[in-house]
This record gives sequence, C-alpha cells and structure tokens, in this order.
Amino acid sequence: MGSIDHVPVMSDEIIDILSKIDRLDLLIDATLGLGGHALRICSTFPSVVILGIDQDEEALAIASKKLADFKDRVMLVKSNFKLIDDIVMSHLSGRLADAVLFDLGVSSMQVDDEERGFSFNKEGPLDMRMDKQGAISAYDLINKLTIDELTEIFYKYGEERYSHLLAKAIVRYRERHGQISSTTELVEIVRNALPARIQRHMGKHPARKIFQALRIVVNDEINALKQGLTKSVDCVRSGGVIIVLSYHSLEDRLVKHTFKQWESDGRGRLYSKKPILPKPEEVERNPRSRSAKLRAFIKS
Ligand SMILES: C[S@@+](CC[C@H](N)C(=O)[O-])C[C@H]1O[C@@H](n2cnc3c(N)ncnc32)[C@H](O)[C@@H]1O
Repeated sequence: MGSIDHVPVMSDEIIDILSKIDRLDLLIDATLGLGGHALRICSTFPSVVILGIDQDEEALAIASKKLADFKDRVMLVKSNFKLIDDIVMSHLSGRLADAVLFDLGVSSMQVDDEERGFSFNKEGPLDMRMDKQGAISAYDLINKLTIDELTEIFYKYGEERYSHLLAKAIVRYRERHGQISSTTELVEIVRNALPARIQRHMGKHPARKIFQALRIVVNDEINALKQGLTKSVDCVRSGGVIIVLSYHSLEDRLVKHTFKQWESDGRGRLYSKKPILPKPEEVERNPRSRSAKLRAFIKS
C-alpha cells in the first residue's frame, strides 16, 4: 500500500466555491481517493456530512484511517460513481446533496504502487485496474487486441500520433516473443519502435500517451464519467454545486459540453466561463496539479 501523504489538488479553490453556496450539510465525494479533499472539507465545514465513493478498496482503507477523527460524519462506499443515483437511493434514502465533487483519474497511491501497473516509470505487472475486481486488465488489452484495435485505442484515448506504428510493434513483438507481461517490457517496445529523432522531440515520456489510453479503456473511464456526471445533476438540490477536476483534454471536453448542455436546458449556470487552473505556486509545490482544470456548475 502506498504512502498516505498526499496533497489534494486545488483544495483552496474548492473550499472557496463550497463557501459560496448557502449551506453545506451534505457533500458527495464521488472520488474519495486518499481522503485528501474530504479531510480538508470536514475540517473547514463543521456540520458537513460526506458520502465518499471509490471503486478502489485500498484507497477506501487509507481514507478511512485519514478521516478517523470525523468518522461520525463520513460514510464510505465501495462502488463506481457511474451508479451515483443508486448509491444516493441506498445510502441517503434519496436525499439530495448540497455538492458533488469529482476529482478524476488515479490517485498518487495508485500511481506510486508499482504492483498496480499504472506507472511507465516503475516495473510492475500490466494491470491498471482501479477496481481490483474489474474484468479487464491492461495485460488483456496488450496481449489480445489486434493491430487495428490497439491503433484505435491509442488514437482515441491517448491522442497518440504514432498509434499505428506502436500497435504494429506490440503485435509483432507478441508474435516473436510471446506474451507481454510487464510495464517495462511495454516501455521497451515503445522505445525501440519510435525513431530517436521523434523521441527527442516528444518532450514527455514516449509511453505516456499509450499508458493513458490503456488506463482509460481498462477502467471504462469516459463512459463512467458520462454516466456519473449526467446523473449527478439529479443528485444535487437547487442552489447546490457540482465540481469537477479533470486532468486531460478528453475528460475536460466532456465536462465542458455536459455543463454547457445543462445551461442551455435551463438547469443552472456555469460557475465560471473558463476553467479554473492551479496557481503557479501550487504547480511548483505539487507537480501532479500541473494539468488540472476545475469546472463547476450551480444548479438552479
Ligand atoms: C485523483 S484520485 C482522488 C483523490 C482525492 N480527491 C484525494 O484528495 O485524496 C481519484 C480516485 O477516484 C477513484 N475513481 C476513479 N474513477 C472512479 C469511478 N468511476 N468510480 C469510483 N471511483 C473512481 C480512483 O480509484 C481514485 O482513488
């Protein structure tokens, strides 16, 4: 299990938004993670009750320890936020929340634990499941999909320019050497497939985009976000707020379009026209916040 030291992203901005709604008695933290935001929110708002959802049991165990001082005000649920409507029915008897928070993607604990297989910088199994009971792992995708299927995934979810080249290299490697089982083996295949000239101009790690693509597919992230976000507006009372922190353009685009659609359907208003970005001091202190974009929607 990873360390419990974890700095929640843009928590000042989140507290600021929550302070502006007329009351905060019930908040749904749809991505509880290590409980960083939840801890800050419990400490700031003395009467708030938090329903914390996560699909990762290890995260819930860490969050439960971290939030021990507030255990009377926190409910933990192991589930997928795409089922947020059912969770509200079963755990809150349908009571509407004052706020819902989504802090998307993976936690530092998940990335730092090499056994989870999320990191291209650490040797580990090709897993990448946030929910360890999940049916598909990165191993299954890498070893079973065809060149065309891998190309599509890398292109669609990683926005990787060299999708076809990399997909071909993976399948050729499989044909010659058998199954690909570790993160480092996959990184090596990527490094060997991409000409050095291209790698020099990439700026970031050459396997970053395909790792992102695999993670998104393994965890069905875009579909879960579509479902969870769409349902969340019906889980919040009038005057309540939905806050989303996203970390890549596919997520942010989806959030932006959903909020715009809600606005044109007369369901409320955008908290700000443009996404709110982390301050340079925060990015310096916590590089994980670098790609964060925060959007919020006030329900009418
Ligand atoms: C970025 S971390 C959240 C960190 C948290 N805000 C904190 O301050 O500790 C995202 C968490 O959301 C969880 N998660 C991602 N997608 C999920 C989904 N569809 N349903 C439930 N949990 C999800 C992950 O397992 C991870 O623990």
